[in-house]
Amino acid sequence: MENIGDRRMSNRVLQIQGSAIHEMTRLSKGIDDVAFLSWAKPTSGTPEHIRSAAIKAIEDGKAGGYSSSGGIPELRRSISEKLHRINHIDSTEGEIIVTVGAIEGLAASVMAVIDPGDEVIFPIPTYSTHIRQVQLASGKPVFVPTDEENGFDLDIGVIEKAITSRTKAIMYCSPNNPTGAVYGEKQLRELADIAIKNDLFVITDEAYEYFIYDGHEHFSIASIPEMKERTLSSFTFTKTYAMTGWRIGYMHADAPLIPQINKAHIPLAICAPVVSQYAALAALDGPQDCVDEFRDHYRSARDLMCKRLDELDQVFEYQRPKGAYLMFPRIIADDGADSTTFCKALLKDAKVSTTPGIAFGPNGEGHARMSFCVPEAEVDKAFDRMEEYFNLDGEKQSQKTVEKGKEGGAP
Ligand SMILES: Cc1ncc(COP(=O)(O)O)c(C=O)c1O
Repeated sequence: MENIGDRRMSNRVLQIQGSAIHEMTRLSKGIDDVAFLSWAKPTSGTPEHIRSAAIKAIEDGKAGGYSSSGGIPELRRSISEKLHRINHIDSTEGEIIVTVGAIEGLAASVMAVIDPGDEVIFPIPTYSTHIRQVQLASGKPVFVPTDEENGFDLDIGVIEKAITSRTKAIMYCSPNNPTGAVYGEKQLRELADIAIKNDLFVITDEAYEYFIYDGHEHFSIASIPEMKERTLSSFTFTKTYAMTGWRIGYMHADAPLIPQINKAHIPLAICAPVVSQYAALAALDGPQDCVDEFRDHYRSARDLMCKRLDELDQVFEYQRPKGAYLMFPRIIADDGADSTTFCKALLKDAKVSTTPGIAFGPNGEGHARMSFCVPEAEVDKAFDRMEEYFNLDGEKQSQKTVEKGKEGGAP
């Protein structure tokens, strides 16, 4: 319903739907002992050496003022080395802006390249915040479905068909939130070809770059030399080092673009939090075992979630995530109930919090997003409850196993 004040608000904000993730969080708070799979947020704490570096920066009196808008030079230097080493992006310190998480880097990128009415192509399902950023810039999101049967891979042919004279950019996240898809080098080279042919920008969100499984590899499209002039890439410390609340990330673009992007970054942030910049420096320069530990934990939680989903095969069908810490099963039970009704009922009646797929673009309908960046006990708690809720426990469950056995399936 329209609020009395809404009439005075901008069309930019009025067109934006409320966040389904926050809505599920709000509803979950009203219920005791929820099994919570709704957030893509690391549940581990920030490693000790990173916390200590922040305390030292405060004690040394380094954290009280602004830094230059691009960030402290020593951090930009370390980021530039990381981009060379890990992402194979040919970068200098001057091509980096330290940002308030990846999100502010993406917002500044969108504001810097999108004019009102410009079209931005989104392979969907995708992270809803990106769509909102384009709407806030008065751009027009254009949705192009990914190939669900093939693990939500990019469909380059469909993307090419969606390009019009108004298309300004393609925006994606890989590894993907919510599907866990990882776009491979071959696909991204094909995407680069069409971006070059049609003179488009590519805006990337590489927040989950370190969380990739089963031998798949992260590929940064800006590492293709011809793409450097047209790619704006955002990265973050949030996921890699469990630093959600520190609000620290960075973006990279070709040197001539940086002064223009800075014109968007400064009104959005002035600079990234300085204490977090010192913490980020310790994260990059310090031991990296924590990242391997986080990855091992997520892989193992993913395997558990897939196994539990296999046992709920009358309710969900799923694609095994190659990366991130999210999965996006299709709901096959409940005769195609819409995802919001489904997730709300699951929360109310089974005390399991998931996120309705519709939040991630129109073809997200009929899915529920589940996060496996939780302790394995939380995965088990959620699936035990779902088994009970869908009445697949006890006798019925063993009957199902017998039937599977008859078909020659695994016991
Ligand atoms: C794809 C993606 N990008 C960015 C973010 C947020 O990143 P940051 O905390 O660095 O702003 C999230 C958080 O869930 C995400 O899923």
